[in-house]
Amino acid sequence: MSSYIKKSVAAMQGYTPGEQPTDPRVIKLNTNESPYPPSPAVGKALQSLKAETLRLYPDPVSLALRRKIAALHGATPDNVFVGNGSDETLALCSRAFVEDNGAIGYFEPSYSLYPVLAQIRAVTARPLELGSEFEWAMPADYQANLFFMTTPNAPTGIQYHKALVCAFCARFKGVVVLDEAYVDFARENCMDLALEYNNVLVLRTLSKSYALAGLRLGYVVGSVPLIAALFKIKDSYNVDRITQAAALAALSDQAYMRNLVERIKTTRRQTIADLERMGFCVFPSESNFLWVKPPRGSAADLYRRLRERNILVRYFPGGRTQDYLRITIGTDEQMRALTDAIRTLAEAG
Ligand SMILES: Cc1ncc(COP(=O)(O)O)c(C=O)c1O
Repeated sequence: MSSYIKKSVAAMQGYTPGEQPTDPRVIKLNTNESPYPPSPAVGKALQSLKAETLRLYPDPVSLALRRKIAALHGATPDNVFVGNGSDETLALCSRAFVEDNGAIGYFEPSYSLYPVLAQIRAVTARPLELGSEFEWAMPADYQANLFFMTTPNAPTGIQYHKALVCAFCARFKGVVVLDEAYVDFARENCMDLALEYNNVLVLRTLSKSYALAGLRLGYVVGSVPLIAALFKIKDSYNVDRITQAAALAALSDQAYMRNLVERIKTTRRQTIADLERMGFCVFPSESNFLWVKPPRGSAADLYRRLRERNILVRYFPGGRTQDYLRITIGTDEQMRALTDAIRTLAEAG
C-alpha cells in the first residue's frame, strides 16, 4: 500500500505538536499559549456574526483585516498577507521561494516545524548549529534559497541583536523570513526590515500575545512582489469569515494586548527570580516562555515528575535540547504551583 505514497512523504515523521491534554486539572505550560482570555472585543465580534452569513464565502483576500494590519505597521495592504495561523504562511513560503533542487536554512535549535517543511517539499534542509549559549555569528559561505530565523528564538527565548539580523538580511542571497511569533514580549522588533529590504518577510501570529491560538491567524509583511507570490499559491479562501471578524476585533484592541503582555512580563520576571534562587540556569527571555536547565538531575526526570503532578512543560528529547525544559509563562498562581512543586521535589531528593 505504501507504494501509493510519495517516497519523501513515506520517509518522513511529520511534525509533532505539543500535547493538548483533556484533563482540566492539568496546568498547561507546554505550548506557549496565553493563560488569559482574548480581548472582550473578540467575544462581541463573534456574537454579532450572524450564522446566516456563513452560507457565503469569505472575502478571499481578507481586505479589511489586511488594511488594519497595514495601518498598524505603516505599510500598505499590498505589503500584507494573512494565513490560517503563521504555520500556513511558513508552508506557503517554503513553496513560493524554494526551487525543487533548492535548500531551506534555519538555526538549530529553533522552531521544529522548519525541517519538516523542507521534508514536505523534498528539498535540502541546511541547519546552522547555534553556539554554546545559543548565539550565532555571521556565517561564511552559507547558501540557501530561504532562511527561517526565529527572533526571539524558540525554544530558547533569546532575541538576536537587530544589527546582526540586519547584516544577515543584507548578505543573504535568498528570502529571509523573520519569524516574530513572540516579538510582542521582546524589547524591539524588525518590522522595518520587511519594508526596507526586498528579500525580507516578517511573520507574526495572533496565537501568543493576542491569546488566540484557537483561532488560527498569522500574517506576513514584506515587499509587494513577495507578498503577491504568496497570494498566487494560497488556497482560495484560506481565512474563514469567523476568523477574519475575530482577528479584526483583536487587532483593533491594541491596549488590551499590551496589557496582557505587561502582565506576562511581570510574571516572567518573578518566575525567573524564583527559579534562579533554586539554582536553575535561566536564559534571558524576550518571549512568553523560559528556557531553563535544572541545577541537578536530568531535565527528562524533572519533566516526568512534574507531569505526575499535573504540571505539563515542554521537553525536547535528543540532541542538545535534552538538557533543558521550556516553560510557558502562565498566571501568577500557575507559576507558584510550578515553583512549589519543584521545591517539594528538590526537598524529596
Ligand atoms: C516560532 C514559531 N513560529 C510560528 C508558530 C506557529 O504559530 P501559529 O499558531 O500562528 O501557527 C509557533 C508556535 O508555537 C512558533 O513557536
